[in-house]
Amino acid sequence: MAANSQRNYDFLVIGSGIAGLTHALKVAALGTVAIITKKQRAESNTNYAQGGIAAVMAKDDSLELHVRDTLEAGAGLCKEDVVRTIVSEGPVLVRELIDFGVKFTEKENERGQYDLGREGGHTRRRVMHAGDITGREIERALLAQVARHQNITVLEESLAIDLITTQKLGASGPNQCLGCYALDKKRNVVEVFAAKITLLATGGSGKVYLYTTNPDIASGDGVAMAYRAGASISDMEFIQFHPTCLYDRRAKSFLISEAVRGEGAILRGPDGEPFMQRYHAMADLAPRDIVARAIDAEMKKTGADCVTLDITHKDPEFVKKRFPNIYAKCLEYGYDMTKMPLPVVPATHYQCGGVVTNVDGETELVGLLAAGEVGCTGLHGANRLASNSLLEALVVGHRAAEVAVRQHATLATPRLALPQWESGDAADPDELVVVTHNWSEIRRLMWDYVGIVRTDKRLLRARARIQNLQREINQFYWDYKVTPDLIELRNLALVAELIIESALQRKESRGLHYTLDYPEHDNVNWKRDTVLRKA
Ligand code: FAD
Ligand code: SIN
Repeated sequence: MAANSQRNYDFLVIGSGIAGLTHALKVAALGTVAIITKKQRAESNTNYAQGGIAAVMAKDDSLELHVRDTLEAGAGLCKEDVVRTIVSEGPVLVRELIDFGVKFTEKENERGQYDLGREGGHTRRRVMHAGDITGREIERALLAQVARHQNITVLEESLAIDLITTQKLGASGPNQCLGCYALDKKRNVVEVFAAKITLLATGGSGKVYLYTTNPDIASGDGVAMAYRAGASISDMEFIQFHPTCLYDRRAKSFLISEAVRGEGAILRGPDGEPFMQRYHAMADLAPRDIVARAIDAEMKKTGADCVTLDITHKDPEFVKKRFPNIYAKCLEYGYDMTKMPLPVVPATHYQCGGVVTNVDGETELVGLLAAGEVGCTGLHGANRLASNSLLEALVVGHRAAEVAVRQHATLATPRLALPQWESGDAADPDELVVVTHNWSEIRRLMWDYVGIVRTDKRLLRARARIQNLQREINQFYWDYKVTPDLIELRNLALVAELIIESALQRKESRGLHYTLDYPEHDNVNWKRDTVLRKA
């Protein structure tokens, strides 16, 4: 590995999705900001968001109703004060996005009036969207703002490896984050990033599972780094499966937005009959955990490989206009959704748990903030309400910036020279094959044993296998040169273990965690979070 070097900034932001960019734009007035991001700057879960961002904008809606829907979806585990704060601050910040240049879809013939979508669990239309490519539009507008800011440097292909903390350096006193080590993938150099305040905005961990809607960046790096640095990780058992991904190998779990059901699409079994009314009063618009489980049950009952999503009864011109991206993508694979029901299956979509923070994004480490999918504020509880994720990332990214600005005045600047990165130097010709093999094994075992329906027996089997893999990966990690694949594999394995451990702890079924061994809620013992912390 080539020589190390150190870069110094006031603020370090790890990740360039909605949370990281929002935060960076707000702290930049006060000092220098580095945004490090492991691929190209737009590559993030944000960039693929379809449905939109939930915010109370309509006359027939109210903050109270949005709060109630969020609490209902969260199955008794949301933190109500957090829900109230995020829901109430959403509309102002969504308007700020509009000021930043985000072009949300307006109603036809009513300029200035936004077309609000509906999704599962929402009792009102409240999803601000930009066609069916909302995330891409938000990402575009925020990146354009960032590009105008002289204080912000965006470093692409820069992969954060680990946080640098006073505890790891053997200093006494409260554990403080001083920055991070990151692999510059272009130059193959590990750099030291030193900053007074670091924001983790690394998104989720969908790649831990074999089938996921998430792009490749979602390998749980933030949760893994925070855990290794001593932060608490909460509620990792609540992995959300999106009910409807296109069932076609070529499409790599392409998402069919819940907004399609919001506009009237119906889920049908292999016999062509609708089934959701048998599972929930809101039928096809029930909260996501219920729909995904119902599809899983129908597939198991009938032996079918998929169910179908039917919107053929709607005006084809409306469908093409409302869902241009989904329509075009499906057509590419031979499915004209205006004429035929789409084959769909559930796939892993969202990590409800994460690094424990308050609603301001503060973690237990001094100088370390977290916002967006990587964090766990308590907004989502046991199951996230659709389109509340972009909302949370926006509000918490913003509030964390207010904290950073305050802390900037009080925290001491990290010492000038932080220790350089040290790791094994051997290069192993077998590495690629080991990494690929372990990567596939983890993703398959999580899919098979830690999926929509769980049992203790399957979880214990998964734990035994992941612990073996962890040992092998860690040995490899310390002996050989770090590579991007190895760094991600190590994180993936750790996050898989955290999911399994949390799932084993929760001896009940609630929201997204459903186990045949404890099929009921246990409000006496389990109306609380699972929390894991490195010994
Ligand atoms: P992300 O947008 O995922 O950004 C994470 C960033 O961190 C990326 O830039 C990544 O490259 C970087 N990164 C990760 N690890 C490292 C590392 N080690 N070093 C450096 N950089 C790193 N939510 C909604 O509310 N509404 C929707 O309509 C919606 N639709 C969705 C559709 C799809 C297909 C998917 C996948 C998700 C959807 N979600 C939706 C969820 C939502 O998009 C995400 O939860 C949200 O965008 C997360 O934002 P974020 O800023 O926290 O993380
Ligand atoms: C979708 O468009 O169905 C995704 C919405 C979300 O994940 O919130």
